[in-house]
Amino acid sequence: MILGIETSCDETAAAVVTEDGEILANVVASQADLHARFGGVVPEVASRRHLELIAPVLAEALDGRGVDAIAVTSRPGLIGALLVGVSAAKALAWSKRLPLHPVNHLHGHVASLYLKPLDLQPPFTCLLASGGHTMLLDVQDRSGYRVLGTTLDDAAGEAFDKGARLLGLGYPGGRELDRLAAGGDPHAYDFPVARVPGLDFSFSGLKTALLYRVRALPPAELEARRADLAASYQRAIVRALVERLEASGAGRVAVVGGVAANSELRASLPGAALAPLPLCTDNAAMIASAARYTEAVPYPQYLSLDARATAA
Ligand code: KG4
Ligand code: ZN
Repeated sequence: MILGIETSCDETAAAVVTEDGEILANVVASQADLHARFGGVVPEVASRRHLELIAPVLAEALDGRGVDAIAVTSRPGLIGALLVGVSAAKALAWSKRLPLHPVNHLHGHVASLYLKPLDLQPPFTCLLASGGHTMLLDVQDRSGYRVLGTTLDDAAGEAFDKGARLLGLGYPGGRELDRLAAGGDPHAYDFPVARVPGLDFSFSGLKTALLYRVRALPPAELEARRADLAASYQRAIVRALVERLEASGAGRVAVVGGVAANSELRASLPGAALAPLPLCTDNAAMIASAARYTEAVPYPQYLSLDARATAA
């Protein structure tokens, strides 16, 4: 059994997963409410909240169970937030003489597909779309991936969050924009889908286009057109993602990350393997899952392990 720990952004999470990918516990304490009044994650606030939550979240996930190894997100993410998880993982592993798996958060998102009941087998092309990343990945085996394309500016989730903010929705806005869009006309406004060379993505122009649309509308009309704006904006993001997947010429396609929870994206890719909804946004089950395919650092070498803000 593997204990997974995830604290790279604003979710404090712990999970217990078996060697063959069964989820025994999956606890996620979201800090979203805490950051909402700032309109985004405040790194220092996140670190402090992780410190308060990590012990109770671990206790709830473990529920008295013993585990054989510990996995923790060591990169990429907010450095202070990562450090809380890495320190907790080291302390727990050291006290029980267990091995420790440092996990790349992005590999974790891909490994959400390897948990039961989905248990997806490579090879496939994976779209990873979250608040921090938007990547097209070539996955040949479960131990890693090759990056085919990435965003040149904003991530898709960031585009959702910034669009939501312009439309007066709370933070994080992706899910609320998804809900608002359900009652709107996706063809009401024509938002541009950026075409950049190769398999990369770009979302910053889209956000600016929405800003100009919003500014041009008188307040009463803006209120009346919010759902149409949301639906048209969402359609542009989803089209950009789907077009890239199609351009990659991929046979089997999978989608992971917070944006994989988007209802229009899911409906637009009927043949794709989609991460189950509770495993799209950040969680620790996916981190424990990734550890099943990576080397552990033996006791006590991992005491010198560092957290890193970047993926490399
Ligand atoms: O994977 P995740 O939890 O965190 C990162 O690793 O970044 O992704 C969070 C992102 C946020 O930007 C959030 O707005 C977006 O996923 N998101 C959605 C939906 N649910 C979450 N975006 C669009 N539609 C949704 N239903
Ligand atoms: Zn994530």
